[in-house]
Amino acid sequence: MSVEDETAIVPFEEQFRQDVLALWTKCGLVRAWNDPGKDIDRKLTDRNGRFPVLLVGKRVVGSVMVSYDGHRGSVYYLAVDPEFQGRGFGKQLMEYCETFLLEIGCPKINLFVRSDNEAVLRFYEDLGFSQDAAMPLGKRLIPDD
Ligand SMILES: CC(C)(COP(=O)(O)OP(=O)(O)OC[C@H]1O[C@@H](n2cnc3c(N)ncnc32)[C@H](O)[C@@H]1OP(=O)(O)O)[C@@H](O)C(=O)NCCC(=O)NCCS
Repeated sequence: MSVEDETAIVPFEEQFRQDVLALWTKCGLVRAWNDPGKDIDRKLTDRNGRFPVLLVGKRVVGSVMVSYDGHRGSVYYLAVDPEFQGRGFGKQLMEYCETFLLEIGCPKINLFVRSDNEAVLRFYEDLGFSQDAAMPLGKRLIPDD
């Protein structure tokens, strides 16, 4: 693997599944109460959203999920392999999401960052995000375990 390898953002395919799951684990995105494989299965039923994967050569180096609910766009599972962080790949994946959402007329992006994840908060602030005066509420409909 060298930095000269070609970079491409392509739609998720089944052949990438194990690498994407490994990437999310490596990036600390997997939670005990969420089955990431089921999240992939569920995302594949979302005909309106996108689930791109960033490849360097044939290696899966990044991924993100994006969707639109008619008022807000959501970005989640953004991940760049720690070995490849700091090279602009996270920014490229976020630009992909913003371009997609703008093209379908979405006026705003919402996303969640853990409040103690200061490095990632700075990453999003650099991209123009700021904290909303709203508290996220959640209700589990389908347990994964
Ligand atoms: C968040 C993440 C995707 C960023 O990916 P990345 O490829 O390292 O980010 P980039 O190299 O594209 O950085 C884009 C910009 O943010 C800035 N940035 C990135 N990390 C930063 C940090 N820790 N502190 C300050 N600025 C930072 C960069 O300087 C860059 O700005 P520039 O274009 O002016 O140079 C990556 O750190 C990651 O996968 N983290 C673990 C998973 C995670 O927490 N995901 C988010 C869940 S909400």
